[in-house]
Amino acid sequence: MNTLLFHCRPGFEGEVCAEISDHAARLEVPGYAKGKAGGGFTEFICQDNGDSERLMRKLRFSDLIFARQWARGSWLQLPESDRISVLLDYLIACPVCGSLWLEVLDTNDGKELSTFCKRFEGPLRKALNKSGRLVEDARKPRLQLTFKSGREVFVGLAEAGNAALWPMGIPRLKFPREAPSRSTLKLEEAWHQFIPREQWPERLSSEMTAVDLGAAPGGWTWQLVKRQMSVIAVDNGPMDESLMDSGLVEHLQADGFQFKPRHPVDWMVCDIVEKPARNAALLETWIGEGRCREAVVNLKLPMKQRYVEVQRLLARIAEGLKARGVKVSIACKQLYHDREEVTCHLRRL
Ligand SMILES: C[S@@+](CC[C@H](N)C(=O)[O-])C[C@H]1O[C@@H](n2cnc3c(N)ncnc32)[C@H](O)[C@@H]1O
Repeated sequence: MNTLLFHCRPGFEGEVCAEISDHAARLEVPGYAKGKAGGGFTEFICQDNGDSERLMRKLRFSDLIFARQWARGSWLQLPESDRISVLLDYLIACPVCGSLWLEVLDTNDGKELSTFCKRFEGPLRKALNKSGRLVEDARKPRLQLTFKSGREVFVGLAEAGNAALWPMGIPRLKFPREAPSRSTLKLEEAWHQFIPREQWPERLSSEMTAVDLGAAPGGWTWQLVKRQMSVIAVDNGPMDESLMDSGLVEHLQADGFQFKPRHPVDWMVCDIVEKPARNAALLETWIGEGRCREAVVNLKLPMKQRYVEVQRLLARIAEGLKARGVKVSIACKQLYHDREEVTCHLRRL
């Protein structure tokens, strides 16, 4: 149980290695990180037993930028048949679990394995219930089994309140056919990621106003309008006509970096493809000057040193706002719908 397993977007294993090594060093938990490029996962091997749990307790999963999911545990080899008996024997040494997730890696092999997992889950759940290893209880750790193949599984544990919201950290969001672009799912995922569901009525309410910078054709505006907000959509490009028919959108053909709202708004969202430092500065200005209360902004990633660069930008935003005496919460995540980018969320406190 001395290993922490992290799921990630394939190609970002190095970022997760850098990120977890950074946190572990800061928290004085000895160990080393490893991940194979394209494998879709990274491991952090702790020096001492019990350290993986210590690290998970000291860290908030939501503070990790590039990890989609995590669990502490170890790899277990399974036989070709009667895998359940082997798993049950192994689990005797683990605490009783409160829920069960079967997960695969976000690779082609993983996709093929998901059919096996679907078939395996029912009988396994039944056996775990019968043996008393699984009792429905959200306070108990969740058993997260990550299958690398039918013969190799990572038997992991995570606290349901301090791990991904969805198996593998992949949200099951349906693309709304009326939305003008697929980007719409990015903003919807950001809300799930950054705003607790019970706070949606208050923080995403119909009386609110929003500015969408780089709005065309309107996928993000569509999400705001769906929640009945009044939106100023800033973009030189054309907005989707049916979205404009809602009567809730004012389209301004202007430069998003120059635009200033006449009155403060509740939300600013920005999906302009620009140098990340420029978008980060824009975010700091909007929150710092009180032009908006909350913001979601995309930051494109550089080719190299992606983790270091994001950290540098976040630190610069935090310092800038501190210097202005503005208290904020800052969160940043590479969402499932993000590719070479991360999504930042800031909220004035
Ligand atoms: C990735 S697209 C936005 C997609 C949009 N979020 C959606 O969901 O449909 C980026 C947009 O930013 C706009 N853009 C680029 N530079 C801009 C600027 N300086 N000011 C305003 N818009 C800009 C582009 O015209 C483009 O429509």
